[in-house]
Amino acid sequence: AKFTLVDPDTCIACGACGAAAPDIFNYDDEGIAFSRLDNNQGSISVPIQLEDDLEDAYEGCPTESIKIAKQPFDGNPDKFL
Ligand code: F3S
Repeated sequence: AKFTLVDPDTCIACGACGAAAPDIFNYDDEGIAFSRLDNNQGSISVPIQLEDDLEDAYEGCPTESIKIAKQPFDGNPDKFL
């Protein structure tokens, strides 16, 4: 299983992730991305059919703000640093 969330402190609202993975990422009023799977908690595993989209978004983010791990983040983007 894979888990994901966005680090809102480094996201520059470039808009790439929502284009690559519209079922995973959405934007707040200021364009900052978040995971729509679980309100950016990174606690619900990404559906297997969305993993390719997730990988595309991960590779396309210019600020490395998309975090992916094999365990839940529990809302903390820095949990596995
Ligand atoms: Fe932000 Fe990266 Fe998405 S900068 S809008 S998390 S592609």
